[in-house]
Amino acid sequence: MTVTHDHPQDGATDPEALRTRIADLLGASRARSTALTEAVDEADLVAQHSPLMSPLVWDLAHIGSQEELWLVRDIGGREPLRPEIDGLYDAFQHTRASRVELPLLTPPETRSYVAQVRDKALDALGRSPLRGRRLEHAGFAFGMIVQHEQQHAETMLATHQLRAGAPVLHAEPPPAGSPLPASEVLVPAGPFTMGTSAEPWALDNERPAHVVDVPAFWIDTAPVTCGAYAEFVDAGGYDDPRWWSAAGWAHRVDAGLVAPQFWERDGSGQWYRRRFGVVAPLVADEPVVHVCFHEAQAYARWAGKRLPTEAEWEKAARHDPDAGRSRRYPWGDEDPTAEHANLGQRHLQPAPVGAYPRGASPLGVHQLVGDVWEWLSSGFHAYPGYETFPYPEYSEVFFGGDYRMLRGGSFGTDPAAVRGTFRNWDHPIRRQIFAGFRCARDAGARDAGARDAGARDAGSDGVA
Ligand code: AVJ
Ligand code: FE
Repeated sequence: MTVTHDHPQDGATDPEALRTRIADLLGASRARSTALTEAVDEADLVAQHSPLMSPLVWDLAHIGSQEELWLVRDIGGREPLRPEIDGLYDAFQHTRASRVELPLLTPPETRSYVAQVRDKALDALGRSPLRGRRLEHAGFAFGMIVQHEQQHAETMLATHQLRAGAPVLHAEPPPAGSPLPASEVLVPAGPFTMGTSAEPWALDNERPAHVVDVPAFWIDTAPVTCGAYAEFVDAGGYDDPRWWSAAGWAHRVDAGLVAPQFWERDGSGQWYRRRFGVVAPLVADEPVVHVCFHEAQAYARWAGKRLPTEAEWEKAARHDPDAGRSRRYPWGDEDPTAEHANLGQRHLQPAPVGAYPRGASPLGVHQLVGDVWEWLSSGFHAYPGYETFPYPEYSEVFFGGDYRMLRGGSFGTDPAAVRGTFRNWDHPIRRQIFAGFRCARDAGARDAGARDAGARDAGSDGVA
């Protein structure tokens, strides 16, 4: 039997080096949330750009509020700075749609609040031994708060995408694409290690490492592109209930879906997409983004394929067949750099297929990390041996709910907020997130080498 292991545990880190690294990461996440909130004027900060999103000023104060709770009150042992505002920034007390009506701190009050919290958080960082108690061990709570700020920065980026008006965000274009040697690869059957017990800042739902036996499957080497998705749209995919699940079709009809969000067509049939205020023709080899789970699933059926399960995705992303262990990332154990993946809002868009050859997995699967979150067929469940830590509202309250998993992060996800084990989830109807997908299919005797036309036909008669 294949020996399976988690990746090696970090060696004993020098506490001063860790302190510096944490301070740098806190600084970087604050620079990003500051840039996202300073890009617009005050009226825009307090406005509701979509009932699906909070006003930007809410996200910023909520970032401060979580940081105060864990780093200043718990680790720092200090009294609340402004106890009267706690409820306003509790995500469970107010729906996103209703937050615009709350007596929120004004933008200047918010900026001053988050700055005061940060001062005290840095003070707590200076005093913490960064070991011992689980919350502080290896700087866990600091890492959790860095990830939390970066998660909300990505949410704020999604709010920017929904906002009307002239462009205010700018970035370099991503690297050029290049053709891949194969459009799909076979992942042989066998066990692999899913989740982690070693990654010091992995959140509770990623733990513990456990062995999962995965039957052989084929997985696409790249996310589904705009060009491929446009073929589905142009072939009438949105008008044919055969491709959709019952829930997906009901949603497609109710919501009047006709194409991915932010796509529009001109009189000649040419597709355009709007991205951060810029309308431009669709680029065929860029991963499709802003599709919901139901659209992803319908495309996959039309293509004679299916969405991968969460275990399949993680095996494709982490399993090293030669070493018989799971890597931290598809390319190895090294933290992501600009060469590996399109992350961190460095480019304000998904990169074309083949733009990150150094980010490929051992089997040649590209762009698993970065570019677009990838919808999977699995729901959100705890791993065997799961323990809630440090609070049930991060993961536990969502287990078993109406969610589908998303993996890999997007161009808007910071490297600090994604790993090979990182688990994201959302409602299957959500499209404002930076989500696309890739396809997979069972490995059977029939298709052990062939694909293309045959695969598509199999889909046509396989789903009645
Ligand atoms: C894990 C990305 C689904 O943004 O809704 C932020 C993360 N939890 N604040 C989200 C989160 C609490 C969460 N996701
Ligand atoms: Fe939050």
